[in-house]
Amino acid sequence: AFDGDKPVWLFGYGSLIFKAGFEYLQRRPAWISGYERRFWQGSHDHRGTPEAPGRVATLIESPEATCWGMGYLVTPEVFDSLDVREKNGYLRRTISMTFDTNEMTDSIVYWAGPDNAAWLGEASEAEIAAHIAVSEGPSGPNREYLLKLADSLRELNDEDPHVFEIERHLRALIGESAFVSA
Ligand code: BEZ
Repeated sequence: AFDGDKPVWLFGYGSLIFKAGFEYLQRRPAWISGYERRFWQGSHDHRGTPEAPGRVATLIESPEATCWGMGYLVTPEVFDSLDVREKNGYLRRTISMTFDTNEMTDSIVYWAGPDNAAWLGEASEAEIAAHIAVSEGPSGPNREYLLKLADSLRELNDEDPHVFEIERHLRALIGESAFVSA
């Protein structure tokens, strides 16, 4: 359902912020409203295994919230490979995105809801950190995903209490100080 080869904006709020893995025409900080990031999605194929899924980010609806991430202007072919890479329960949605310059545009976002097979659902930040500390998959340790995301969100000046609270617990568990120098 794409208009030929016309480039489209993709909004990334998880691994796409720090690891694109595809070619893009532009990369710009952006945010969406009405959603919050949560580590409630299981990862069977990247940061865990089918027997021991990791925990990765998805979005939940939250009317008052905003979620910062990264906008990528891409050609539609990029979605062919992303649909494979992100098959683990994620579907595409079109939502409105606002750049840090305040311009708005439509964007495509990958979103995994409670009705997908890999969904893990709500847990406390301490429980999520304990889970992430021991998970690993073909893309690497689950902790690397969380820590890189937290670093990226600091660079975006995002205040994401869910992610930073998981990070605090995780760093305590794995024996690192709470803050990294830039
Ligand atoms: C994201 O960074 O937006 C993302 C990455 C993987 C799956 C879904 C979303």
